[in-house]
This record gives sequence, structure tokens and C-alpha cells, in this order.
Amino acid sequence: MTNPTWWKEGIIYQIYPRSFQDTNGDGIGDLAGIAARLDYLVWLGADAIWISPIYPSPMADFGYDISDYCDVDPLFGSLHDFDHLVEEAHRRNLKVILDYVPNHTSDQHAWFAESRASRSNPKRDWYYWKDPNPDGGPPNNWISNFGGSAWELDPGTGQYYYHAFLKQQPDLNWRNSEVVAAMSDVLRFWMRRGVDGFRVDVLWHLMKDAEWRDNPPNPAFREGQPDIERLLQVHSADQPEVHGIVQHLRRVVDEFPDRVLIGEIYLPIDRLVTYYGRDLSGAHLPFNFQLIQSAWIARQLAALIREYEAALPAGGWPNWVLGNHDKPRIASRIGRPQARVAAMLLLTLRGTPTLYYGDEIGMENVSIPADQVQDPWEKNEPGLGFNRDPQRTPMQWGDEENAGFTIGKPWLPLELRFRERNVKAFAADRNSILVLYRRLIALRRRHKALTIGSYREVESEGDVLAHERAAGGEVILVALNLGREAQRLKARGRGTGQVLLSTLGSREGEAIHAEIEIGPDEGLVIGYGAAADAGPIEADPPEGGG
Ligand code: GLC
Ligand code: CA
Repeated sequence: MTNPTWWKEGIIYQIYPRSFQDTNGDGIGDLAGIAARLDYLVWLGADAIWISPIYPSPMADFGYDISDYCDVDPLFGSLHDFDHLVEEAHRRNLKVILDYVPNHTSDQHAWFAESRASRSNPKRDWYYWKDPNPDGGPPNNWISNFGGSAWELDPGTGQYYYHAFLKQQPDLNWRNSEVVAAMSDVLRFWMRRGVDGFRVDVLWHLMKDAEWRDNPPNPAFREGQPDIERLLQVHSADQPEVHGIVQHLRRVVDEFPDRVLIGEIYLPIDRLVTYYGRDLSGAHLPFNFQLIQSAWIARQLAALIREYEAALPAGGWPNWVLGNHDKPRIASRIGRPQARVAAMLLLTLRGTPTLYYGDEIGMENVSIPADQVQDPWEKNEPGLGFNRDPQRTPMQWGDEENAGFTIGKPWLPLELRFRERNVKAFAADRNSILVLYRRLIALRRRHKALTIGSYREVESEGDVLAHERAAGGEVILVALNLGREAQRLKARGRGTGQVLLSTLGSREGEAIHAEIEIGPDEGLVIGYGAAADAGPIEADPPEGGG
């Protein structure tokens, strides 16, 4: 059964493999653990899983430093385990998306070992090597995303190599056609194994200024911001030539049917949408992180949703993300009551939603004692508040020891309240955030208006955020209160509606007339026409999974 647009209608669930499920007691999640939890993901209603890197890696950046693109790190299992996982996922109609990290390899990759061996090595040009400045210093002023100079002197050959991230992550030279060919074969290798698509790491970084000009200072820099913010990334990222590479990656992905190309891109909306490419020849889904980056203020969110919808190229499919392994947990950022409202927003906006593991049970940032810090960024730039460990803690499955994540010592500490806050407890509680997520996903699946319907902003004021989705005879109004005071919203002109789902679980089935009262921290999905006929979504909807 093929469905060329599964990535438009479906829901993507991001798994950080170290923290999902351990099966061999080493305290680190593995592929067998993911396979063991697939039924949970089907129950939740996910359509695809995106797994952060599982390849052999010295783990300087927890898998984003890859020493072999075509294998599995023994920590996570084997290629055999991977094939088994794909088979089990596909049997359940779940797609599998892998992380593809083309900007840099590990400094332990065989390619880099060759490249650094001598100035005349055939792979020298696979990375960026430059002579020192006349004063012996680095070739230009570029700064690493993890702090300090982006250049590392290699004493053996007397040249510097460029690394946009850790010095253990040398950047690949995408102007070199052998690199392009080798990295294209990596995509083919995994697609032949059945992989349904890729999330491309730091896609906007792939090309750098051909002349390696200095970046200008950032006039808005303030002490306390990460080092990288000192300069504007004018020459080190988002170069015009990057679109040629994106197009090339898309062509490779299109050699196989029904695959998806997703790009990790942190750029303002007007720059972000250029990654769809001319005539949509670029990424299917340039990740849209607006909900992660914006303050949780209704008027501000309304403006950015409007701006994003307006900026999309014709036929470009939108997408929304609430959390990932690099950003603080949504429940900590906006509070637990609003995390439910955020779930309703994520799952009712137009476009593919990506859910970060654990957000469906309202996981919060876990505070990490100084002697247990793992994140290399935090180690490089301690105390600025950018540690990424807090949002990477083990998934909370049950109330047993270590929440059922491991029988060993977990690589990061668990949330202290995991005995009350876990999948098992929440699945049995119809008022839990987990059941809300499950019902929202089921509702989205049930109504074409929510999956592929049109989007229209509904005029609102103050803390209210409202929009309307429609398809066929279905009209769905979503009314969210982002504040702590009751609000009102005018709902004239649609006839009588019916509450299909409420974040507070209290008003389902209620008839809605000309005006809606929305309680503090409340979100409502209201059906009209054919959408009302279907009635409220069950407290225990049928299983999803395609
Ligand atoms: C991306 C990843 C992040 C990683 C970085 C370097 O931003 O999401 O976790 O540290 O790239 O690969
Ligand atoms: Ca393990």
C-alpha cells in the first residue's frame, strides 16, 4: 500500500534513542528498546518515528559526531537490530525516518584520518583546511556553535581545519564532488534498507562563503549569550549555493518512492521558506521552529502563524514543532496547564506536527547536578543556561525502578516525580495530558478538515488564539485561551456547533452558539456541519497507526 503524502497527513514522533528504552541494562536506550515500544506509539497514534543518530560514534556530541555513516553503534545494537526494527515498524504502518548528519563527521571517521594524514592526501580536500593567518592565528574570525574559535590547528600538517560545532566534528567540504557522491550513497544505503526519509542535521550550514570572509559583529550581543552570538552568521551559513545541495539531496531521495526530506533549519521565516526550493525542488519539510522560539503570548503567536502561512510557497506544505532534543521542554517553558493548550495548537494547525518523546506525558526539564553534566555544549560554556541534558532524560514508562527505562544506572537522572507521571499511570487516567494527546491525534485523523483542510485565522483579542479549519462539509473552530482569566470569543455565522474536545475534558458535547466562553487555560475544538455530526471524540479512541 503506497501513500505518497503520508508525511503531510501523518504525525512524526521524535525518539532520542539514548533515552527511550534500554534493554540490556547499560543505562542507555537501544534499538531493541524502540522495537519493544512500537505498540505504544501505535496506541498513541504516531505515523512515523524519527530517530536521532544511531551510527557508530565516539559520542562527543552524542551521535551527531559520526565515524561511520553505514553502520549502527554497538551501544544501540546492530544492523540486524535495525532491519528488525524497520520490519516491525512497517508491519504496524509506522514509517521510519533517520537523522542524516552531512555537515560534519567525527574526527575519528576514516575519511578525516586520511584527510589529516598529509597535505597531499587524496581526501585532503574532503574537509576545509586553511593556512594560519600571517600571525599564526586562525584563518578567520568564525566562532563554533559550541563556543570558541571554529578553527583547530592540526600540528601534523600545520594547517587549520574548520568545525562549526565541536573540534571533534570537522566540517565536510560539500564543494567537493567526491564528498557529494559518497554522502549521496549514504542516503541510498539506508533507503535500500527500507528507511522512509531523513531529517537533515543543520541543513542551512552545508555551504560556507567561498572566500571565507570574516563575519561581522552582532550589535545586539549581550554578555550571557552563547559565544556564537557575538557575530552575525552572514558568511558561515545560509549561503545561496546551499540550495543546489538541497536540490541534489532531494533528487537522491526521489530515486526511491514515497520518501521524505526534512531539514533542520533555524532561520527567520522569510529565509526558512526558501528551503522548499524553486518549484518545491528542495526539502519537503523545512522544520518550522516558530512555536519553540516564540514567547507564549497569543498575539505574538497569531502574528507568526499568519506570517508563516503567508510566506509558504505555492503548494509548500507547512509543519510545526513544539520541542526537540536541543530546546527546553515545553511543559517547563509555559507550565503544565498551557502544555495542554500547546498540544491542541500543535495538532490542529495546518501542517505536519512533530512531537518530541515525553512531551505527550508533560515531561519537564530535569535539573542536572554539576557532576552529572553530559552535554558538551554545557561543558564548553557552563552556566549560561543552555545545557541540553534536562530535555534528554529517560522516558517515564511506569512507576517501577527507573520508570521502567532501565534495570541499570540511567545515563541521565530521571524526573523526580516519575512515579506519578508516567505512561502507565496516565494511560489509565482520562484527564491526563497523555490521553488528551491521544484524543487530539485521533480527532485529527478522523477529520479531513484537520489533516488536509484549509486554514483561516479567526479574529480574536487578548489571550485568545483562534483558527478555523475546513474541508468538504466539515468546519472546525479551535479556540485557545493562553491566559489565566476567562475569555470570550465571537462565533457567529457558523450555525450551532458542538464541542468535540476540550483540554480540560469537561465540556464535550456542549452546544455552541453566537459566543464562546473559554475558561482559564482552556482550549476547545468545536465542530460544525459534518464535523459536529461525528460527535465528541471518545475518551478511549481506537488505535491509530495508519
Ligand atoms: C543539530 C543537532 C544538535 C547537534 C548539532 C551538531 O543542531 O540537533 O543536537 O549538537 O546539530 O550536529
Ligand atoms: Ca542499552
